Amino acid sequence: MASLTVRQLDETLKQQLRLRAARSGRSVEDEVRNILKAAAEDSDALAPMAKAAPGAGPVPAPAGKRVLLIVGGGIAAYKSLDLIRRLKERGFTVRCILTAAATQFITPLAAGALTGERVFTDLFDPASEFDVGHIRLARDTDLVVVAPATADLMAKMAGGHANDLATAVLLATTAKILLAPAMNPQMWANKATQRNLAQLTADGVTLIGPNAGEMAESGERGIGRMAEPMEIAGAVDRLLAAKGERPLAGKRVLVTSGPTHEPIDPVRYIANRSSGKQGHAIALAAVRAGAEVTLISGPVTLPDPPGVRMIKVESARDMLRAAEQALPVDVAIFAAAVADWRVANAGDQKIKKKAGETTPELSLVENPDILSTVAHRTDQRPKLVIGFAAETENVAANAKAKLARKGCDWIVANDVSPQTGIMGGDSNTVQLVTADGIEAWPPQSKDEVAGMLIARIAAAMNAT
Ligand code: CTP
Repeated sequence: MASLTVRQLDETLKQQLRLRAARSGRSVEDEVRNILKAAAEDSDALAPMAKAAPGAGPVPAPAGKRVLLIVGGGIAAYKSLDLIRRLKERGFTVRCILTAAATQFITPLAAGALTGERVFTDLFDPASEFDVGHIRLARDTDLVVVAPATADLMAKMAGGHANDLATAVLLATTAKILLAPAMNPQMWANKATQRNLAQLTADGVTLIGPNAGEMAESGERGIGRMAEPMEIAGAVDRLLAAKGERPLAGKRVLVTSGPTHEPIDPVRYIANRSSGKQGHAIALAAVRAGAEVTLISGPVTLPDPPGVRMIKVESARDMLRAAEQALPVDVAIFAAAVADWRVANAGDQKIKKKAGETTPELSLVENPDILSTVAHRTDQRPKLVIGFAAETENVAANAKAKLARKGCDWIVANDVSPQTGIMGGDSNTVQLVTADGIEAWPPQSKDEVAGMLIARIAAAMNAT
């Protein structure tokens, strides 16, 4: 009997399988089993696969949504490369057009390497016109994103110009358009730009940003910074989410994330290595699924996920207070790496070194357990309480014991030994522990773990 290892499949196929599995709330292995079972039961189902033409174009990602990214010529174009990554992570197929000015800032090679597709730059390129053509580029997409949208591109759009590939596509498309403007604050404030903006908004274009802050030019501040790639990706999610893709619509979700800082004195604290990436990704995935999300986070360097109600805290006790204030919720997910102990005798003043004196001793007291407190509440206990278990050994056994001890419904267990690189890293390998048993999920990015967890939560909530 032939054996099949999912891990050895090519990346595109693996990605498609993961997203398909996340949507149906199964593990990838179960999803593969399901596909094989359906195919074996229906021998006709095998025929089209066998007949697929060699070299046929790539199958669109299972999210099924295609984004056309038009990059204008501004310094913020470098952020558009990161935007491509963020969109690909979410399973979108991304095609990219660079304006002539954009190629002064980033290269078609870089954009092509990230999209995995050829990059389009020229309206009069016979090869691409024959192959794809500007009309097909305009039509074969669910959303056009212009990032950065320069003052010049906005002016051309408002005036209906079509003298290069980007503007011709923008004029020919029937898809929704999302603009992420980026320009100098004076250019943004200029009456001409504001006139064009009013025209574009009246035409139905959606806007994200620009944000206020420091400009690329030294000493310049104001409104004009392009929205961050995560914010733009969040806006894309919202624009492309169909009703059926919002399975948590009307549900309230609480997520804790990041480390806590426990003061030693006003300038020193005890902390841990949590980056908050997993908790923040879960909050964003819940927003995408239509939930009303409160994210309580300890100190992290991540941007706030778009669409969440953000509460920033420092210590475990602050986090507990904020979590209890956020109730009632339908689902609570405790992804924060809460410090188990705090300093009992934290100084009000900076502790000073004194020659000849012994070093200060810190005595520790246990912090309240936020997960356990909420899970054991007799009133306002969320319907589904989910904890994380960060373990360095006996992951499954420890997580099972933790599930019982903390009184939660599910535990997402992960091995955080230094060699796994999970703490602070972008990927995660977890096991989902429920009353029904333990399920090993495939190694995947933290965004994918978040998507899969939210799909499981939605399935559980909608089944009750
Ligand atoms: N947790 C919490 N409050 C605490 C400690 C932990 O809410 N004071 C939550 C975490 O957010 C996580 C779960 O409890 O969802 C387990 O965290 P973990 O650090 O793995 O477990 P501990 O309870 O700290 O147990 P130990 O360190 O002994 O494994």
